Amino acid sequence: MSSQIIPVEPFDYVVFGGSGDLAERKLLPALYHRQIEGQFSEPTRVIGASRSPLTHEEYRKFAKDALNEHLKKGEYDEAEVQKFCARLYYVSVDARTDAGWDQLKKLLDEGKDRVRAFYLAVAPGIFGDISQKIHDHKLITKSTRIVVEKPIGRDLASALQLNDTIGRAFKEEQIFRIDHYLGKETVQNLMALRFANALYEPLWNANYIDHVQITVAESVGLEGRAGYYDTAGALRDMVQNHILQLLCLTAMEVPSSMDSEAVRDEKLKVLRALKPLNASNVEQATVRGQYRAGASGSGPVKGYLEELEGGVSNTETFVAIKAEINNWRWAGVPFYIRTGKRLTGRMSEIVITFKPIPHAIFDQAAGRINANQLIIRLQPDEGVKQSLMIKDPGPGGMRLRNVSLDMSFAQAFNVRNPDAYERLLMDVIRSNQTLFMRRDEVEAAWKWVDPILKGWETTGQQVQGYTAGTWGPSQAIALIERDGRTWHDEI
Ligand code: BG6
Repeated sequence: MSSQIIPVEPFDYVVFGGSGDLAERKLLPALYHRQIEGQFSEPTRVIGASRSPLTHEEYRKFAKDALNEHLKKGEYDEAEVQKFCARLYYVSVDARTDAGWDQLKKLLDEGKDRVRAFYLAVAPGIFGDISQKIHDHKLITKSTRIVVEKPIGRDLASALQLNDTIGRAFKEEQIFRIDHYLGKETVQNLMALRFANALYEPLWNANYIDHVQITVAESVGLEGRAGYYDTAGALRDMVQNHILQLLCLTAMEVPSSMDSEAVRDEKLKVLRALKPLNASNVEQATVRGQYRAGASGSGPVKGYLEELEGGVSNTETFVAIKAEINNWRWAGVPFYIRTGKRLTGRMSEIVITFKPIPHAIFDQAAGRINANQLIIRLQPDEGVKQSLMIKDPGPGGMRLRNVSLDMSFAQAFNVRNPDAYERLLMDVIRSNQTLFMRRDEVEAAWKWVDPILKGWETTGQQVQGYTAGTWGPSQAIALIERDGRTWHDEI
């Protein structure tokens, strides 16, 4: 089965931080794939911009090396790479002075009528400077957008300030706050599953659902990002954005359409309905963890403090939270969320556990009746599993068995699974904001997260050690088992 590609208008993508890590690993490969799939209209250009003094040719060489290293086997096609490199340009600009901005303007003026997108793949500390320079040098046309990467602030106050700064140069409809989890195929499938099937929505509430689990487990450690990570921690790095977005899509009311405002209005209501966690209840409802030395798939690995090279730190590399949503649909249904580095494996999923049947008609010999579970698997092996009780085949009375209707998308559709950035980068050109975070959403997420951070500080809640390669601290297991439930730990 092949997917339908609708070409986008010609564009100029200016990537600030164009020679950085995100451009190298994600943005350039994603754009290359969209070219191969025939999504570009000509003339379309990608312009790298950063402080390093590179020529166009040197930037093309950088991009070629990046594609060579980061594309999967069989995806590198010399002719396509040449074609891709021919659309690359580079300008050296300084975010804090006027150096280079006239050259950038001159280059962009060659394509005044094209869609123009500025991607800020840089440290948030210079988001404001860059957006101001773009404004002052009159680079904003009618069809200009700006894309900002997380983190958008480190608390509510800094997020407000950052949003204000960007908002001085750009209108809200021009600002695309990217959360790459929203571009993941299965995350969008969650909406398809809920809103394109009659089956689930009538059951999608506190009458039929016992609880929800959201796990985003990683096997990697700091990956050379100690400087950033140690000042952030798992709550800011993963929960404030990716996990709360997953929670919103799972819990939101049915929007009236897929219109970006309709969807984001509903997500916002969920964020606003989250039960506050603060110094009074944070110790019962949250667990903070930090990995110690252990083993990952590839062998022994260092502990977090050793990776910090002797540092002392109370930063959490794991967090588990029992969240609750104060509304009719979800009253009394806990949403257990957890995420961590150096866990047993890389696995992200949303598990919906339905309530047990109200009355069993089978005798004990039939065996235990498990509650139905719907498992939405984001990665690896994206797909959906629905567990059901069936009769064990063959004669000999009624024996019940828990089986899964298992749909792996890779097997079902036999197509390449595009990286999240591919879709999101094109949505920016199409000016479709459905999968991007609106200002009020980001701020509402911080409003819930800030009191947790403050609660940890006030109560002095310490990180609990866990051995690398496990599922996190034992306190996280206790968090859910106290309620008579268990984590879904299948990899
Ligand atoms: C990023 C976090 O936003 O998401 C990283 O900053 C994390 O710490 C990454 O590793 C996970 O993304 P993915 O797509 O690999 O699950």
